[in-house]
Amino acid sequence: MAIKRILVYPEGCLKQVAKPVTVFNDKGLKVLVQDLADTMYDAPGVGLAAPQIGVSLRVAVTDVDWRSEDGIKNHQVWINPEFLWKSDEMEIGEEGCLSLPDIYGDVERPNAVRLRWYDLEGKPYEQDFEGFQAVALQHEFDHLDGKVFIDYFSRLKRNMIIKKLKKKYLS
Ligand code: NI
Repeated sequence: MAIKRILVYPEGCLKQVAKPVTVFNDKGLKVLVQDLADTMYDAPGVGLAAPQIGVSLRVAVTDVDWRSEDGIKNHQVWINPEFLWKSDEMEIGEEGCLSLPDIYGDVERPNAVRLRWYDLEGKPYEQDFEGFQAVALQHEFDHLDGKVFIDYFSRLKRNMIIKKLKKKYLS
């Protein structure tokens, strides 16, 4: 078990496009996923992507239920995720991010998606998601493309937030 430091935007590899995983069934990959889960639960949060702990690989974990329902931890692992389809129907919801402490704002996203991803052994999966789960997955996988939710804001608002984060956490 290892709790890693969560990078603050725009630190480190948070603005980079992460590389796909090419070696599955690998000790290093298992350790990375466990570190992501440990760090997410400790934060506490409902999702965490590898670039947020300084690893530029297309890996993320989520657990959207553990804080609201019975508290049972059961993280889902997403490796090399890829959206096959996104709905035309959009939904506006408030988002926050562990890499942007105390920053919240409304983001409009497709409210349903079809996803392909791989597990730790390299087995492929395909499934549809909607509502909060669909939104959470889009937020997490944006991190794998070097994007964060404030990229959906105006340049003015985004620059103000970055200035504030730099002053508070990165100076
Ligand atoms: Ni985030």
